[in-house]
Amino acid sequence: MDSILVRGGGELNGVIPIAGAKNACLTLMPATLLTEEPLTLTNAPRLSDIRTMTQLLGSLGAEVASLQDGQVLAMSSHNIHNHTADYDIVRKMRASILVLGPMLARDGHAIVSLPGGCAIGARPVDMHLQALEAMGAELDLRDGYVHARAPGGRLKGAVIEFGFASVGATENALLAATLAKGTTVIKNAAREPEIVDLAQCLRRMGAQIEGEGSSIITIQGVDRLSGATHPVVTDRIELGTYMLAPAICGGTVECLGGRIELVGAFCEKLDAAGVSVEETERGLKVTRKNGRVKAVDVTTEPFPGFPTDLQAQMMALLCTADGTSVLEEKIFENRFMHAPELTRMGARIEVHGGHATVKGVEKLKGARVMATDLRASVSLILAAMAAEGETVVSRVYHLDRGYERVEEKLGACGAHIERIAS
Ligand code: UD1
Repeated sequence: MDSILVRGGGELNGVIPIAGAKNACLTLMPATLLTEEPLTLTNAPRLSDIRTMTQLLGSLGAEVASLQDGQVLAMSSHNIHNHTADYDIVRKMRASILVLGPMLARDGHAIVSLPGGCAIGARPVDMHLQALEAMGAELDLRDGYVHARAPGGRLKGAVIEFGFASVGATENALLAATLAKGTTVIKNAAREPEIVDLAQCLRRMGAQIEGEGSSIITIQGVDRLSGATHPVVTDRIELGTYMLAPAICGGTVECLGGRIELVGAFCEKLDAAGVSVEETERGLKVTRKNGRVKAVDVTTEPFPGFPTDLQAQMMALLCTADGTSVLEEKIFENRFMHAPELTRMGARIEVHGGHATVKGVEKLKGARVMATDLRASVSLILAAMAAEGETVVSRVYHLDRGYERVEEKLGACGAHIERIAS
């Protein structure tokens, strides 16, 4: 298993290109299952999660060609011969559940393994299933699989009201509703930019959708969808992560492709901490010049609130803030596993349930630490870049799921970071 070696100290200055969003791409790729015509995604990120989704779609009979060094995915699903998403793939990546809605909508039947738990929480898929049941699906849960069937071969429009604005459940419902008979209304829908991106792609394919980005989405089902070409939206989590690099180390970094509306709540916290964010023609320029940042309190919430996927990285910043910050995690029940690792680097953090209290210290110190999940892994790298001495982050396969070419991107801005292959 590879590790990352970071030698801390020194400002970061330069330009970082931000890739297309992993989480958008993972919901756009299953949209290929809705049509027999080609669907092409441009601005795709080059990540192991995307390769896992490619493998899953391939196992169903879809063809996915990775072109232009992986930045273009040309997909075709004219020959879906298998309707079972196997446990061996689904257990690697929870987003695999997103093939359930499209397969069911297109062919009236699908069998998908239940994903099981994950490091940051139990993460059930009950709301995905609730949405499909509302659309008439008959579901049978046995042997760890969801066996789904649409009576008469077609889902029907329905009013779906979520108890919580789940991103994945909204996506599955939206994908499925495009081909259902009649009108579907999703109430308390998630409003994340990745959902807006999915709706835009589906509309290019001929779907009739209104209200994406608000909490009520209305879909008028159509008989068939066509092919399309769609650019994947900028990754707001990669953007926020690299915006934190100069905030933590000092210096100025311009993140190409960044837009304020993707990271509004996050920018408000950076501003409160004393980090400046400026919109440029090409993206967002982040500067931290004078001394330590100020402590700020952060609560994670569904979009447009502060994203849970930036909580670990924000904690890395607040470890060296002047004062005490409280971070509240409201989306996942076990998402502070980076805290004990940051503590190994000299941070002063106390976790009580869903709250973490961070007492800022002047400097962190390098140590051997372990990545526990995707966002935790990058928070340790951010912390290490500002720490005294060397840090070795092990288990970086988590990192490769969601960040392409981290060493290259940060190295180009002056960070001392290298991968140690094992
Ligand atoms: C997506 C993102 C993930 C991000 C999360 C919240 C992808 C591939 N992943 O995950 O990076 O952290 O949104 O912004 O896009 N829940 C249920 N039942 C369900 C579904 C969800 O109880 O059927 C709970 C989850 O356990 C969690 C909360 O709802 O506590 C939020 O989950 P959800 O919004 O669905 O996140 P994901 O789509 O899994």
